[in-house]
Amino acid sequence: MIYLDHAATAYPRHPGVSEAMLKALEVAGSVGRGGHQGAQSASAIVASCREKLGHLMGASDANRISLFPSSTLALSTLIADLAQRSDSQAEIWMGKLEHNAVWRPAVRAFGDDRVRFLPTDEDGVIDVSQLKSLDMSRAAGVVVQHASNVTGVLQPVEEVGAWCLQLGIPMIVDGAQAAGLVPFSVERCPGLKAYTMAGHKHLGGPPGIGPCYLAHDYEPEPLWIGGNGIDSEHPSVPASGPGRFESGTPNLPGIAGLDAALNFFEDHPVSERFQKAVKIRQAWRDMIQEIPGVVIPGESGTAPRTPVIAIHVPGHSADQLSAELDVRIGVRCRSGLQCAPLAHQHLGTLEAGGTLRIAPGEETDGETRELVCATLAKLIL
Ligand SMILES: Cc1ncc(COP(=O)(O)O)c(C=O)c1O
Repeated sequence: MIYLDHAATAYPRHPGVSEAMLKALEVAGSVGRGGHQGAQSASAIVASCREKLGHLMGASDANRISLFPSSTLALSTLIADLAQRSDSQAEIWMGKLEHNAVWRPAVRAFGDDRVRFLPTDEDGVIDVSQLKSLDMSRAAGVVVQHASNVTGVLQPVEEVGAWCLQLGIPMIVDGAQAAGLVPFSVERCPGLKAYTMAGHKHLGGPPGIGPCYLAHDYEPEPLWIGGNGIDSEHPSVPASGPGRFESGTPNLPGIAGLDAALNFFEDHPVSERFQKAVKIRQAWRDMIQEIPGVVIPGESGTAPRTPVIAIHVPGHSADQLSAELDVRIGVRCRSGLQCAPLAHQHLGTLEAGGTLRIAPGEETDGETRELVCATLAKLIL
């Protein structure tokens, strides 16, 4: 098997994940439910995971990180809250490569005609020089992704955040494709009010955990509330802190798995990891673009990127190419729209049904790269 689907989920998970998950199933108690030893052990795992995430992402107070069941649920919560705190004329602004985890909740909460797009270049990178000329008088918030799950391109989130800060508009960053791979400090990013992550991608953990950082002065309304073991006599959840967003019995095995996955970063600093990833991407890109008939859309500029490469082969279906690569040499990669129709619309690959996405990881060697590219070349001859 040749795994080239790291943008979907980490494989293999970071060391120790499966063992930690199994061990968590043996814990005789639930997070925050009572003071007995089992409940305390469960709560200690959650506290440890939060602490490691805070350390990794540059949050000095780990209690500003809440563990949602997915980054989708965190984004849905944040976007619904933006609509709720604004009037019926308010607009939401976003990039042009956003994932459906942003676009769909935005359309539902604001309506299609009040979803506005920031100006970008042809690769979909936000054009910071044009921001000043926008009429942001009705803006309830700005949501931008950190890294694209279609082309890997990074957005200038610090510059966009500085502009949002000047205007007093909250900026939410979808960090699903960046957290754990792209060096970033949530407290150093101006204007950042929330940063959402996916535990099962570059953080190396299992699915089912979507950590979300909230700035110290940002308290969105939770989308769901219920029991959390805190202040149970009150009709509502706490006004701040993770207890506001973690109602319902937490996914302890998932959190324990993520807690174990985060140990990986002790010996693998994110900055080193990213440098390696840039080289891996470059090597793949150089080889892919030599294949006659292949187009790599959205690559005209020099913006930094994660190892995600979109391949379009005019006259060939991406789904069929992906299936053939799997049958012939066991390649696992994702074809189609990758839940990001906006990105494909911008790149001009929507009508073709999307692209073939190559998302290699650190374990993929040069021989594998040659085999995949040679097989792809034969398929499209
Ligand atoms: C850019 C981006 N945002 C959000 C998500 C949603 O993440 P999840 O499915 O873990 O909720 C993904 C998942 O692929 C993604 O790539």
